[in-house]
Amino acid sequence: MNASSSDVLFRPIRVGTLDLPNRIVMAPMTRAFAPNGIPGEPNTVYYRRRAEGGVGLILSEGTVVNRPASRNDPGIPLFYGEAALAGWKGVIDAVHQAGGRMAPQLWHTGSVKSPLTEWVPDSPVESPSGNNGPGAARGIAMSDENIADTVSAFASAAVDAKRLGFDAVELHGAHGYLIDQFFWAQTNLRTDRFGGATIGERSRFAAEIIAKVRAAVGDCFPIILRVSQWKQQDYTARLAETPELMTSWLQPLVEAGANVLHCSQRRFWEPEFPEIDGENGLNFAGWAKKLTGATTISVGSVGLSGDFMSAFGGESSTSVGLERLVERMERDEFDLIAVGRALLSDPQWASKVRAGDVADFHGFTPAALAELV
Ligand SMILES: Cc1cc2nc3c(=O)[nH]c(=O)nc-3n(C[C@H](O)[C@H](O)[C@H](O)COP(=O)(O)O)c2cc1C
Repeated sequence: MNASSSDVLFRPIRVGTLDLPNRIVMAPMTRAFAPNGIPGEPNTVYYRRRAEGGVGLILSEGTVVNRPASRNDPGIPLFYGEAALAGWKGVIDAVHQAGGRMAPQLWHTGSVKSPLTEWVPDSPVESPSGNNGPGAARGIAMSDENIADTVSAFASAAVDAKRLGFDAVELHGAHGYLIDQFFWAQTNLRTDRFGGATIGERSRFAAEIIAKVRAAVGDCFPIILRVSQWKQQDYTARLAETPELMTSWLQPLVEAGANVLHCSQRRFWEPEFPEIDGENGLNFAGWAKKLTGATTISVGSVGLSGDFMSAFGGESSTSVGLERLVERMERDEFDLIAVGRALLSDPQWASKVRAGDVADFHGFTPAALAELV
């Protein structure tokens, strides 16, 4: 690929009050390298390197809100408490000094167990209905009070993000974690106002979080919501089988105050509804943009031959060209593209794309997961 053919990735974009110099977003990637949940110098250097490498917007690894069992690994950073927030202040200041922009990804892991550790929190894990998928009981079903406290915890974390100087927040509503467990019929068996037979009804928990975050951070601060059809409990799961259902899922969330939908899929080129617009049809972010009018971020195997679950299975991926991405971005199918593993293995990836240094791309080996570089 020559430098000019990637130009479309380097158009500036404005999202609310946030001016981004290009369309490349660092995908949120849990690294579990925050001892006692506190980000320190190594975490700061890790993010600063990606800012120096020309990433338009950095999304932090998932960082958890103030609930007793909001994380499933003790190396996951907290986004509450004086020490952790001081650590995050160091991160955002360093990213800004390097000319970058950044949002923390606010997270609650629900009843999902980490595949990497046997550690469990001191308090019982919580989820909409006390399970983690069909027939998989785990932890407690959340009470009204638990729900109200969780909604407030997301809002407090967003206020702290804004106060520390972050440029936006991302709410993790994807991949089978707490917010997604409310979306998914298999984990939301509730008969109260947070449950229901339709995806529109099961969106209420997320909508309440977004509305409370929006009220707390004001009209202009960008709120990004990450969503996925797939769950780590079931890769074939789909919350919305049709565009109509996708509208009833996502439209209330945009109306509640989400400016950006970060539509997670494992391979960005896969069409969402090929039965409607064919094998080269719009992907998830493309449909989400078309149906809601929101700004959208796509993601999934950019620049790499294999998808990210293969990385957890120990497989390496080789570097591949960006032609398919450029083609979709030239059609304005979605607005931004998140890049995970390529940026994990090479902090300079965005600058290399800009310069057309294709021969210098690394690919990805799972060994990169073992250290924070
Ligand atoms: C090591 C690792 C950790 C991840 N942690 C998170 C996370 O904390 N939050 C999240 O939303 N996605 C997480 N993901 C998914 C990525 O954000 C991204 O969607 C996925 O890796 C696909 O992008 P890629 O193919 O460019 O790597 C993680 C992926 C990897 C490889």
